Amino acid sequence: MKEEMGRRSFIFSSGAVLAAGAVVAGNVAAAETAVEKKKVRILGFACSNRKGMTTAKAVQLVLDSAKGVDPRIEVELVDLGGLKFSGYSKTPPEDDLTDIIPKLQEPSVGGIVIGSPCFYRGPSSVCRAFIERCAPLREPKMILKDKPVAAVAVGSFKYGGHDLVIKEIQAAMLCFGMMPVGADHPAFQGATLTQAKDDFSADDIGIDTARKTGIRIAEMALKLGA
Ligand SMILES: Cc1cc2nc3c(=O)[nH]c(=O)nc-3n(C[C@H](O)[C@H](O)[C@H](O)COP(=O)(O)O)c2cc1C
Repeated sequence: MKEEMGRRSFIFSSGAVLAAGAVVAGNVAAAETAVEKKKVRILGFACSNRKGMTTAKAVQLVLDSAKGVDPRIEVELVDLGGLKFSGYSKTPPEDDLTDIIPKLQEPSVGGIVIGSPCFYRGPSSVCRAFIERCAPLREPKMILKDKPVAAVAVGSFKYGGHDLVIKEIQAAMLCFGMMPVGADHPAFQGATLTQAKDDFSADDIGIDTARKTGIRIAEMALKLGA
């Protein structure tokens, strides 16, 4: 009898331990999922035809600054330089953008950054083509609606049309229901950098605009995504 009780209590207690373990494991998994759910991704698109050059570096600067705002922020640079793709067409073609556009459909995307070089005081054709190809994100559902977008312009001379580049990017993204954001002084319009010999490290003000733009897009992504 005593032996039977011992066996029963052993079975009971090991069951209890297992059950408790399952509950703890469940809670850990739930906690992990909750943290995972809270992740807010900011995607940065560099729209120069030259991969890894000043536009990509400027967008990366914005993203690094955004990441520093909060541990929930995750960032990814998508450098379109050197990729082969065309602009809008009713049936999107199979090309280098085919696998990139779906990244924007992920629910964790809380905001985007679009950077372009100033080309004749306007955005590059790469930038225009990329935005045109985002057409499937407007229909049947406005997937980017109410998400913040920040713009980056890099040129090689002062007053090179940076504001015009940013204005065009922002105007286009309004068609997606996005919320264009600028930042604190002197970055009211977004990030504006001027480079010489493919290097903008001497442009202190431009670098400041990139950092402030990063902070702002992160803050707004967290606010609007909450
Ligand atoms: C076709 C062409 C047009 C350009 N037009 C302008 C311009 O209007 N304003 C300006 O500041 N820089 C202009 N630039 C310089 C580029 O904006 C600058 O070199 C930029 O940093 C290039 O970006 P990337 O290094 O990412 O390729 C032009 C360059 C090219 C090739």
